[in-house]
Amino acid sequence: MDKILIRGGAPLRCTVAIRGAKNATLPLMAAAILAEKPCTLHNVPCLHDIFTMDKILSDMGMAVEFTGRYMHLDSSSMNSVEAPYDLVRKMRASFFVLGPLLGRFGKARVSLPGGCAIGARPVDIHLKGLEALGATIRIESGYVEAEGALTGADITLDFPSVGATENMIMAACRASGVTRLSNVAREPEIVDLAQFLNTLGARISGAGTDLITIVGVDALSGGEHTVIGDRIEAGTFLLAAVATHGDVTVQGAQSEHLTAFLGKLEESGATIEIGANRIRAKAANGFEGVDITTQPFPGFPTDLQAQMMAMLSVAQGVSIIKEMVFESRFMQVAELLRMGADIEVDGNTAVVRGVKNLSGAPVMASDLRASAALVIAGLIAQKGETAISRVYHIDRGYERIEERLCALGADIRRVREG
Ligand code: UD1
Repeated sequence: MDKILIRGGAPLRCTVAIRGAKNATLPLMAAAILAEKPCTLHNVPCLHDIFTMDKILSDMGMAVEFTGRYMHLDSSSMNSVEAPYDLVRKMRASFFVLGPLLGRFGKARVSLPGGCAIGARPVDIHLKGLEALGATIRIESGYVEAEGALTGADITLDFPSVGATENMIMAACRASGVTRLSNVAREPEIVDLAQFLNTLGARISGAGTDLITIVGVDALSGGEHTVIGDRIEAGTFLLAAVATHGDVTVQGAQSEHLTAFLGKLEESGATIEIGANRIRAKAANGFEGVDITTQPFPGFPTDLQAQMMAMLSVAQGVSIIKEMVFESRFMQVAELLRMGADIEVDGNTAVVRGVKNLSGAPVMASDLRASAALVIAGLIAQKGETAISRVYHIDRGYERIEERLCALGADIRRVREG
């Protein structure tokens, strides 16, 4: 296993290219199940989660070729509708294959994902929605067994779950008649999925609002699509810039995907400049505490909460952070405390009292975004070395993060643990 070693204190400067969004690519790959002709995705990030989805689809017989930033997917050789426990337990997004399998083949057998570090994360909204479309669902030995011809329906989600919205859109593309989904997620990744499916011949309107209408079609063809930039990766680099009193431009990210987040960065005192496909953040004169509440899009993203907390741990004044999307998403706190932060957690609220500085320490990554928070904390720490273990969590969502931070002036390297 690898470790990441950081000696903090250096302000980050210059420009970093943002990769394609992991959370957009995963459902796009699953959507290729619906396509009866080959599909090509551009701007695909090279990440462990993408390899896991590649393995799931390949095991079902799909031909997947991933070279450079291109991925070619051809479902014509698919011969299985099963996603096994061994792969689904590694990554919840594997569950995205359920909707397209049902839509295309009228049956699917997909392992239940189980809990994860940031909460119980049930799949009840996915299953309720697919049942409303006419699927018969049984839970057998830890697997969801679903079958049936789908018919359009009017469905209101109990909560705007991103994954459930994606699963239902994909299933409804091949349902007979019209499906109206309300209280759906409005994330940019949903819009990207709808655009791709429409390229394949689907008839989806309203993506990006809370009401999506899908007119079912008999078949979907092939097509090409370029994945949107990763707003969470962009936000992480911008936070690292501000936290180190640096000046960084991210290229390949759309500012309108980060409006609530950028508003909070500005409120803290950072200077933000927005250009075509690029965002610059700098904070030469320090920054102040701000209060944040995570919400579904367009609110402040839960996937940037941990990294923002790391930055706020050295802000002037007090910040109150409320986590409203997941039940236990403060995994980073115990490790930040070991680095000298002053944070108190009460239920879903954290009170962060800014300290003058952090000090490097050995810490352990626990989930993807909590690990990114530890990287930012390590970059802040003016004394000592931060050694982050279990970095496979970081590799799930950030492509060669240490090389790209190094290019921005950070003293960071990866070593083999042992
Ligand atoms: C996606 C993102 C993840 C992000 C999250 C919220 C991917 C691959 N992952 O995850 O990075 O943090 O959106 O922006 O895109 N819930 C239920 N029942 C359900 C489904 C969800 O109770 O059937 C709850 C979850 O436990 C959670 C909340 O709804 O508390 C939000 O989950 P959801 O939006 O579904 O997140 P994911 O799609 O899993």
